Amino acid sequence: MKPVGKVLCATGIVAGFLAFFWKDPFNPESLSGARVLLTGASAGIGEQMAYHYARFGAEIVLTARREAVLQKVRTSLYEGRHRRFGLLPKQQQQISCQHDKFSFGTVEQNQLRGLDYLVLNHIGVTRFQMWAGDVEYTRWLMQVNFFSYVALATAALPTLEKNKGSLVVVSSLIGKIPTPFTTSYSATKFALDGFFSSLRHELIMQKRNVSITLCILGLIDTDAALENIRGKVHLTASPAPEAALAIISGGAMRMQEVFYPWWLQYTCCLWVLFPYNRDQVLQSYYNYSSP
Ligand SMILES: NC(=O)c1ccc[n+]([C@@H]2O[C@H](COP(=O)([O-])OP(=O)(O)OC[C@H]3O[C@@H](n4cnc5c(N)ncnc54)[C@H](OP(=O)(O)O)[C@@H]3O)[C@@H](O)[C@H]2O)c1
Repeated sequence: MKPVGKVLCATGIVAGFLAFFWKDPFNPESLSGARVLLTGASAGIGEQMAYHYARFGAEIVLTARREAVLQKVRTSLYEGRHRRFGLLPKQQQQISCQHDKFSFGTVEQNQLRGLDYLVLNHIGVTRFQMWAGDVEYTRWLMQVNFFSYVALATAALPTLEKNKGSLVVVSSLIGKIPTPFTTSYSATKFALDGFFSSLRHELIMQKRNVSITLCILGLIDTDAALENIRGKVHLTASPAPEAALAIISGGAMRMQEVFYPWWLQYTCCLWVLFPYNRDQVLQSYYNYSSP
Protein backbone atom coordinates (compact mmCIF):
# COMPACT_ATOMS: atom_id res chain seq x y z
CA MET A 1 0.00 0.00 0.00
CA LYS A 2 1.20 3.51 -0.83
CA PRO A 3 2.13 5.80 2.14
CA VAL A 4 -0.88 8.07 1.42
CA GLY A 5 -3.18 5.06 1.56
CA LYS A 6 -1.66 3.98 4.88
CA VAL A 7 -2.18 7.44 6.36
CA LEU A 8 -5.81 7.48 5.15
CA CYS A 9 -6.44 4.00 6.57
CA ALA A 10 -4.89 4.94 9.93
CA THR A 11 -6.95 8.17 10.05
CA GLY A 12 -10.11 6.20 9.26
CA ILE A 13 -9.42 3.68 12.02
CA VAL A 14 -8.70 6.42 14.60
CA ALA A 15 -11.86 8.30 13.54
CA GLY A 16 -13.87 5.06 13.85
CA PHE A 17 -12.56 4.44 17.37
CA LEU A 18 -13.27 8.01 18.41
CA ALA A 19 -16.81 7.82 17.03
CA PHE A 20 -17.41 4.51 18.84
CA PHE A 21 -16.16 5.62 22.25
CA TRP A 22 -17.26 9.29 22.12
CA LYS A 23 -20.14 10.06 24.42
CA ASP A 24 -22.20 13.21 24.19
CA PRO A 25 -21.40 14.97 27.48
CA PHE A 26 -24.87 16.57 27.48
CA ASN A 27 -27.17 14.86 29.94
CA PRO A 28 -30.81 15.85 29.25
CA GLU A 29 -31.80 14.59 32.70
CA SER A 30 -29.91 17.50 34.23
CA LEU A 31 -32.73 19.70 32.91
CA SER A 32 -35.54 17.80 34.58
CA GLY A 33 -37.23 20.26 36.93
CA ALA A 34 -34.91 23.13 35.92
CA ARG A 35 -36.67 26.49 36.04
CA VAL A 36 -36.25 28.31 32.73
CA LEU A 37 -37.31 31.76 31.55
CA LEU A 38 -37.13 31.83 27.76
CA THR A 39 -37.63 35.03 25.74
CA GLY A 40 -38.86 35.21 22.13
CA ALA A 41 -40.60 31.84 22.41
CA SER A 42 -43.54 32.42 20.07
CA ALA A 43 -41.64 31.61 16.86
CA GLY A 44 -38.43 30.39 15.26
CA ILE A 45 -35.59 29.07 17.38
CA GLY A 46 -37.25 30.16 20.65
CA GLU A 47 -40.33 28.08 19.89
CA GLN A 48 -38.14 25.05 19.15
CA MET A 49 -36.27 25.59 22.41
CA ALA A 50 -39.58 25.57 24.26
CA TYR A 51 -40.41 22.12 22.83
CA HIS A 52 -36.98 20.71 23.74
CA TYR A 53 -37.01 22.13 27.28
CA ALA A 54 -40.50 20.74 27.85
CA ARG A 55 -39.45 17.33 26.49
CA PHE A 56 -36.55 17.30 28.96
CA GLY A 57 -38.91 18.01 31.86
CA ALA A 58 -37.92 21.62 32.52
CA GLU A 59 -40.39 24.07 34.04
CA ILE A 60 -40.58 26.92 31.59
CA VAL A 61 -41.98 30.40 31.38
CA LEU A 62 -42.19 31.80 27.86
CA THR A 63 -42.25 35.40 26.70
CA ALA A 64 -43.10 37.17 23.44
CA ARG A 65 -45.34 40.07 22.43
CA ARG A 66 -48.04 38.16 20.55
CA GLU A 67 -50.09 36.47 23.23
CA ALA A 68 -52.27 34.46 20.81
CA VAL A 69 -49.24 32.93 19.06
CA LEU A 70 -47.59 32.16 22.39
CA GLN A 71 -50.83 30.48 23.43
CA LYS A 72 -50.56 28.17 20.38
CA VAL A 73 -47.05 27.13 21.44
CA ARG A 74 -48.35 26.42 24.90
CA THR A 75 -51.18 24.29 23.50
CA SER A 76 -48.68 22.27 21.43
CA LEU A 77 -46.66 21.67 24.58
CA TYR A 78 -49.70 20.27 26.34
CA GLU A 79 -50.71 18.19 23.32
CA GLY A 80 -47.22 16.69 23.30
CA ARG A 81 -48.02 15.46 26.85
CA HIS A 82 -44.78 16.88 28.15
CA ARG A 83 -44.29 15.98 31.74
CA ARG A 84 -44.00 19.47 33.14
CA PHE A 85 -44.79 22.79 31.64
CA GLY A 86 -44.65 25.84 33.83
CA LEU A 87 -43.97 26.16 37.49
CA LEU A 88 -46.90 28.50 37.75
CA PRO A 89 -50.62 28.12 38.15
CA LYS A 90 -52.08 27.24 34.72
CA GLN A 91 -53.39 30.69 33.88
CA GLN A 92 -49.93 32.22 34.43
CA GLN A 93 -47.79 29.76 32.53
CA GLN A 94 -46.89 32.18 29.81
CA ILE A 95 -46.34 35.88 29.78
CA SER A 96 -46.46 38.30 26.98
CA CYS A 97 -44.25 41.32 27.01
CA GLN A 98 -42.39 43.76 24.87
CA HIS A 99 -38.76 43.78 25.87
CA ASP A 100 -38.09 47.36 24.90
CA LYS A 101 -40.55 48.45 27.59
CA PHE A 102 -40.17 45.59 29.96
CA SER A 103 -38.65 45.20 33.40
CA PHE A 104 -37.57 41.82 34.71
CA GLY A 105 -38.99 42.72 38.10
CA THR A 106 -42.47 42.17 36.72
CA VAL A 107 -41.71 38.57 35.90
CA GLU A 108 -39.49 37.80 38.85
CA GLN A 109 -41.87 39.07 41.49
CA ASN A 110 -45.15 38.00 40.00
CA GLN A 111 -44.44 34.88 37.99
CA LEU A 112 -41.32 33.01 39.08
CA ARG A 113 -40.31 31.65 42.44
CA GLY A 114 -36.79 30.82 41.34
CA LEU A 115 -34.70 30.59 38.23
CA ASP A 116 -31.98 28.24 36.95
CA TYR A 117 -31.73 29.38 33.33
CA LEU A 118 -32.36 32.76 31.76
CA VAL A 119 -32.35 32.24 27.99
CA LEU A 120 -32.23 35.54 26.10
CA ASN A 121 -33.27 34.93 22.52
CA HIS A 122 -35.77 37.60 21.32
CA ILE A 123 -34.95 40.12 18.58
CA GLY A 124 -36.76 43.07 17.11
CA VAL A 125 -37.74 43.10 13.43
CA THR A 126 -34.54 42.95 11.38
CA ARG A 127 -34.07 44.85 8.12
CA PHE A 128 -31.76 43.08 5.70
CA GLN A 129 -30.78 46.00 3.47
CA MET A 130 -28.14 48.63 2.72
CA TRP A 131 -27.70 51.30 5.39
CA ALA A 132 -30.21 54.05 4.60
CA GLY A 133 -29.40 56.36 7.50
CA ASP A 134 -32.23 55.49 9.91
CA VAL A 135 -30.54 56.23 13.23
CA GLU A 136 -33.82 55.97 15.18
CA TYR A 137 -34.30 52.39 14.00
CA THR A 138 -30.78 51.50 15.14
CA ARG A 139 -31.47 53.08 18.55
CA TRP A 140 -34.70 51.07 18.85
CA LEU A 141 -33.04 47.82 17.77
CA MET A 142 -30.26 48.39 20.31
CA GLN A 143 -32.97 48.74 22.94
CA VAL A 144 -34.68 45.47 22.02
CA ASN A 145 -31.65 43.33 21.08
CA PHE A 146 -29.09 44.65 23.55
CA PHE A 147 -30.26 46.91 26.39
CA SER A 148 -33.18 44.64 27.29
CA TYR A 149 -30.73 41.71 27.51
CA VAL A 150 -28.54 43.73 29.88
CA ALA A 151 -31.55 44.75 31.99
CA LEU A 152 -33.03 41.24 32.18
CA ALA A 153 -29.65 39.66 33.00
CA THR A 154 -28.90 42.24 35.68
CA ALA A 155 -32.23 41.72 37.38
CA ALA A 156 -31.88 37.92 37.21
CA LEU A 157 -28.28 37.67 38.43
CA PRO A 158 -28.98 37.52 42.21
CA THR A 159 -31.54 34.72 41.70
CA LEU A 160 -29.29 32.85 39.29
CA GLU A 161 -26.39 33.15 41.72
CA LYS A 162 -28.49 31.69 44.54
CA ASN A 163 -29.26 28.67 42.32
CA LYS A 164 -25.81 28.36 40.64
CA GLY A 165 -27.71 29.08 37.45
CA SER A 166 -26.93 29.97 33.86
CA LEU A 167 -27.37 32.86 31.51
CA VAL A 168 -27.73 31.83 27.89
CA VAL A 169 -27.39 34.60 25.31
CA VAL A 170 -28.34 33.90 21.72
CA SER A 171 -26.11 35.75 19.28
CA SER A 172 -25.00 35.32 15.68
CA LEU A 173 -21.98 34.84 13.46
CA ILE A 174 -22.78 38.43 12.46
CA GLY A 175 -21.76 39.38 16.03
CA LYS A 176 -18.26 38.02 15.28
CA ILE A 177 -17.89 38.80 11.57
CA PRO A 178 -19.55 41.91 10.08
CA THR A 179 -21.51 41.24 6.89
CA PRO A 180 -23.32 43.48 4.37
CA PHE A 181 -27.01 44.47 4.83
CA THR A 182 -26.87 44.02 8.61
CA THR A 183 -25.42 47.26 9.99
CA SER A 184 -27.78 47.74 12.97
CA TYR A 185 -28.32 44.04 13.71
CA SER A 186 -24.59 43.36 13.59
CA ALA A 187 -23.98 46.25 16.01
CA THR A 188 -26.43 44.81 18.52
CA LYS A 189 -24.83 41.35 18.34
CA PHE A 190 -21.25 42.69 18.68
CA ALA A 191 -22.48 44.63 21.72
CA LEU A 192 -23.78 41.40 23.29
CA ASP A 193 -20.40 39.72 22.84
CA GLY A 194 -18.57 42.68 24.39
CA PHE A 195 -20.89 43.04 27.37
CA PHE A 196 -21.46 39.39 28.26
CA SER A 197 -17.87 38.22 27.63
CA SER A 198 -16.66 41.00 29.92
CA LEU A 199 -19.30 40.15 32.52
CA ARG A 200 -18.21 36.49 32.40
CA HIS A 201 -14.65 37.53 33.37
CA GLU A 202 -16.00 39.54 36.28
CA LEU A 203 -18.22 36.74 37.59
CA ILE A 204 -15.29 34.30 37.48
CA MET A 205 -12.96 36.80 39.19
CA GLN A 206 -15.56 37.34 41.93
CA LYS A 207 -16.13 33.56 42.22
CA ARG A 208 -19.85 34.04 41.53
CA ASN A 209 -21.19 30.75 40.25
CA VAL A 210 -23.28 31.86 37.28
CA SER A 211 -22.25 30.61 33.84
CA ILE A 212 -22.64 32.69 30.69
CA THR A 213 -23.04 30.89 27.37
CA LEU A 214 -22.85 33.00 24.22
CA CYS A 215 -24.41 31.18 21.26
CA ILE A 216 -23.03 31.98 17.81
CA LEU A 217 -25.44 30.81 15.16
CA GLY A 218 -25.15 30.75 11.38
CA LEU A 219 -28.10 31.08 9.04
CA ILE A 220 -31.08 29.14 10.48
CA ASP A 221 -34.24 28.25 8.56
CA THR A 222 -36.74 30.31 10.57
CA ASP A 223 -39.53 32.01 8.62
CA ALA A 224 -38.26 35.47 9.55
CA ALA A 225 -34.66 34.78 8.47
CA LEU A 226 -35.60 33.08 5.19
CA GLU A 227 -37.98 35.92 4.32
CA ASN A 228 -35.23 38.47 5.03
CA ILE A 229 -32.51 36.93 2.88
CA ARG A 230 -34.64 35.73 -0.03
CA GLY A 231 -32.79 36.41 -3.30
CA LYS A 232 -29.99 38.29 -1.54
CA VAL A 233 -27.62 35.60 -0.21
CA HIS A 234 -26.21 32.35 -1.57
CA LEU A 235 -26.15 30.33 1.65
CA THR A 236 -27.89 27.23 2.95
CA ALA A 237 -29.84 27.51 6.19
CA SER A 238 -29.49 24.96 9.02
CA PRO A 239 -32.57 23.52 10.80
CA ALA A 240 -34.03 25.48 13.73
CA PRO A 241 -34.73 22.41 15.95
CA GLU A 242 -31.03 21.44 15.79
CA ALA A 243 -29.92 25.00 16.50
CA ALA A 244 -32.27 25.07 19.50
CA LEU A 245 -30.82 21.83 20.84
CA ALA A 246 -27.25 23.11 20.42
CA ILE A 247 -28.14 26.21 22.48
CA ILE A 248 -29.83 24.19 25.23
CA SER A 249 -27.06 21.59 25.54
CA GLY A 250 -24.34 24.27 25.52
CA GLY A 251 -26.15 26.15 28.27
CA ALA A 252 -26.66 22.99 30.33
CA MET A 253 -22.96 22.13 30.02
CA ARG A 254 -22.06 25.69 31.07
CA MET A 255 -19.98 26.21 27.91
CA GLN A 256 -18.61 29.71 27.34
CA GLU A 257 -19.44 29.72 23.64
CA VAL A 258 -21.57 27.52 21.43
CA PHE A 259 -21.08 27.51 17.66
CA TYR A 260 -23.86 26.12 15.48
CA PRO A 261 -23.18 24.67 12.98
CA TRP A 262 -19.94 23.51 14.68
CA TRP A 263 -17.66 24.57 11.82
CA LEU A 264 -18.44 28.26 12.42
CA GLN A 265 -15.76 28.17 15.11
CA TYR A 266 -13.18 27.46 12.39
CA THR A 267 -14.69 30.13 10.15
CA CYS A 268 -14.10 32.66 12.93
CA CYS A 269 -10.47 31.49 13.36
CA LEU A 270 -9.82 31.74 9.61
CA TRP A 271 -11.40 35.21 9.58
CA VAL A 272 -8.86 36.40 12.13
CA LEU A 273 -5.89 34.51 10.66
CA PHE A 274 -6.36 35.69 7.06
CA PRO A 275 -7.24 39.40 7.07
CA TYR A 276 -6.40 39.90 3.37
CA ASN A 277 -8.99 39.32 0.63
CA ARG A 278 -11.47 37.93 3.16
CA ASP A 279 -13.97 40.75 2.47
CA GLN A 280 -14.02 39.91 -1.24
CA VAL A 281 -14.72 36.25 -0.49
CA LEU A 282 -17.51 37.17 1.92
CA GLN A 283 -19.11 39.65 -0.49
CA SER A 284 -19.19 36.97 -3.20
CA TYR A 285 -21.97 35.24 -1.21
CA TYR A 286 -24.21 38.31 -1.62
CA ASN A 287 -26.39 39.01 -4.59
CA TYR A 288 -25.85 42.70 -5.35
CA SER A 289 -24.94 44.62 -8.47
CA SER A 290 -23.64 48.11 -7.84
CA PRO A 291 -25.55 50.99 -9.48
N1 LIG B 1 -32.64 32.67 12.17
C1 LIG B 1 -31.36 32.90 11.91
O1 LIG B 1 -30.88 32.74 10.76
C2 LIG B 1 -30.45 33.34 13.02
C3 LIG B 1 -29.08 33.40 12.75
C4 LIG B 1 -28.22 33.79 13.77
C5 LIG B 1 -28.72 34.14 15.01
N2 LIG B 1 -30.06 34.09 15.24
C6 LIG B 1 -30.54 34.50 16.55
O2 LIG B 1 -31.45 33.55 17.07
C7 LIG B 1 -32.43 34.22 17.87
C8 LIG B 1 -33.83 33.84 17.40
O3 LIG B 1 -33.94 34.17 16.03
P1 LIG B 1 -35.20 33.69 15.17
O4 LIG B 1 -34.78 33.66 13.75
O5 LIG B 1 -35.81 32.51 15.80
O6 LIG B 1 -36.16 34.96 15.36
P2 LIG B 1 -37.75 35.09 15.06
O7 LIG B 1 -38.25 33.88 14.37
O8 LIG B 1 -37.90 36.42 14.40
O9 LIG B 1 -38.37 35.14 16.52
C9 LIG B 1 -38.14 36.25 17.31
C10 LIG B 1 -38.89 36.10 18.61
O10 LIG B 1 -38.72 37.30 19.38
C11 LIG B 1 -40.02 37.83 19.73
N3 LIG B 1 -39.94 39.30 19.71
C12 LIG B 1 -39.82 40.11 18.64
N4 LIG B 1 -39.77 41.40 19.02
C13 LIG B 1 -39.88 41.42 20.37
C14 LIG B 1 -39.92 42.44 21.34
N5 LIG B 1 -39.85 43.74 21.02
N6 LIG B 1 -40.02 42.10 22.65
C15 LIG B 1 -40.12 40.79 22.97
N7 LIG B 1 -40.10 39.77 22.11
C16 LIG B 1 -39.99 40.08 20.81
C17 LIG B 1 -40.94 37.28 18.65
O11 LIG B 1 -42.25 37.11 19.13
P3 LIG B 1 -43.37 38.26 19.02
O12 LIG B 1 -43.33 38.77 17.62
O13 LIG B 1 -44.62 37.51 19.38
O14 LIG B 1 -42.99 39.24 20.04
C18 LIG B 1 -40.37 35.89 18.41
O15 LIG B 1 -40.85 34.98 19.38
C19 LIG B 1 -32.14 35.72 17.75
O16 LIG B 1 -31.39 36.16 18.86
C20 LIG B 1 -31.32 35.81 16.48
O17 LIG B 1 -30.46 36.92 16.47
C21 LIG B 1 -30.95 33.70 14.28
